Amino acid sequence: MGKLRIAVIGTGSISNCHMDAYHKISDRVEVVAGCDIDSAKLKAWGERHGVTNLYTDYNKMLEEIKPDCVSVTTWNAVHKDATVAALLSGANVICEKPMAMNAKEAEEMIAARDKSGKLLQIGFVRRFGKDAEAFMDFKNAGLIGDVYYAKATYLRKNGCPGGWFGDKRYSGGGPLIDLGVHVIDLSRYLAGSPKPVSAYGVTFNNLGCDRAKGDRAPWQIETGASEFEYSVEDMASAMVRFDNGFTLQVEASFNLNIEQDTGSVEIYGTKAGARLAGPLQLFTDVAGRFANVQTCGNTYFEMSAFDEEILGFIDAVEGKRECRATAEDGLALMKILDAIYESAKTGKSVDIKW
Ligand SMILES: NC(=O)c1ccc[n+]([C@@H]2O[C@H](COP(=O)([O-])OP(=O)(O)OC[C@H]3O[C@@H](n4cnc5c(N)ncnc54)[C@H](O)[C@@H]3O)[C@@H](O)[C@H]2O)c1
Repeated sequence: MGKLRIAVIGTGSISNCHMDAYHKISDRVEVVAGCDIDSAKLKAWGERHGVTNLYTDYNKMLEEIKPDCVSVTTWNAVHKDATVAALLSGANVICEKPMAMNAKEAEEMIAARDKSGKLLQIGFVRRFGKDAEAFMDFKNAGLIGDVYYAKATYLRKNGCPGGWFGDKRYSGGGPLIDLGVHVIDLSRYLAGSPKPVSAYGVTFNNLGCDRAKGDRAPWQIETGASEFEYSVEDMASAMVRFDNGFTLQVEASFNLNIEQDTGSVEIYGTKAGARLAGPLQLFTDVAGRFANVQTCGNTYFEMSAFDEEILGFIDAVEGKRECRATAEDGLALMKILDAIYESAKTGKSVDIKW
C-alpha cells in the first residue's frame, strides 16, 4: 500500500499537534495540502511543515487534491460543513472535539459518513492518554467492578482563551463545550460508553473573559480578536444520568475564584475507585484493609496522546484496529451538551431523546 495522502483544514494551533503526529509516521502518510481562511497563518504553517499546496477554500482543495484523509481542525462552527465536504469528496476524516455546534449538526455528519462509507473519528484525545489506557487495563481485568459514579472537573482560574472560543457563533458555547467535553467524554468512555438519558445543568457568566487584565491567560489565542464578541458562559456545572444508572457530575470554567487551575476525573466502581490527574491512582481494599495504590511507570496524560490518536486514526483507516472515538461517541457528547445548555436555560432536568 502507498502512503496515505493527508490534508488539513484549519491551520491554527491544534493542527500542529496533528502535524507533529503525522510527521512521526511519515513512512505511512504524507501531508499533501493545507487550507485556512487566514492566508498569513496558512503561509507560515506551510513553511513550518514543508507543505506547498495551500488553499483558502477547502472545497477547491478537496476537488484538486483528492486526499485520502483529512484533519478538520477549524473552529467549531466549521466542523460540520468541512467534515461533510471532506467525507463526500471520498476522504476519511478526523474532526477535532467538540464534534459540532450541536447534536443536529452531528447527525448530519453521521449521515454524510454513512453515505460516503468512509471513517469519521472524533478528536477525543483523552481516550488515548496513558492514564485512560491503564484504567481500562485494570477495569478489563475486573479490578474496578461496576462503575456507577464519576466526578469530572476542568476548572481554570483565569483561562478564557478569548477570540472565537468566547464567541458563541463560532464556538457553540464556553468552557462546557470546550473543556468539559474532554472530561465528560473521558468519564463516559471509562464507564463503558453508556447512553446518556438526562441532564440537569447550570451556567454562569459572572466574571466574564478579561477578569484579570495584566495577568493574561497563557493560552489566549491571537486570531483576529476584534471580530469576535464575548458571548459564552464562564462556568458550567451539571449532573448527567446514563441508561445503566451511571451518573456523572461535571464542572468546567474559563474563570473562577478558585485557588488554582484543576482538572481531574474521579471514577468509582464497586471494587475500586480511580483518580485520573497525574499518574493513575486506585482506591480499593485488600484483605479487609483500605489501600490507595499509586501506579508506576507512565500512567499519566501527556501531549504524546495526540501521536497515539493520529496513529489510531491511520490504523483504523487501514483496517488494522477499531476506531476508538467514533462519530456515535461524538453525537452522544453533543446530546449531553445540548441538554445541559437547555437545562441551564429552563431550570429543569432535560430528557435526552434518541
Ligand atoms: N484536542 C484538544 O485538546 C484540543 C485543543 C485545542 C483545540 N482543540 C479544538 O481544535 C479546533 C481548533 O482549535 P485551535 O486552538 O487550533 O484554534 P485556532 O484559532 O488556533 O485555529 C482554528 C483555525 O481555523 C481556521 N478556520 C476557520 N474557518 C475556516 C474555514 N472555513 N476553512 C479553513 N480554515 C478555517 C481559522 O482561521 C484558524 O486558523 C477547535 O475545534 C478546538 O475545540 C482541541
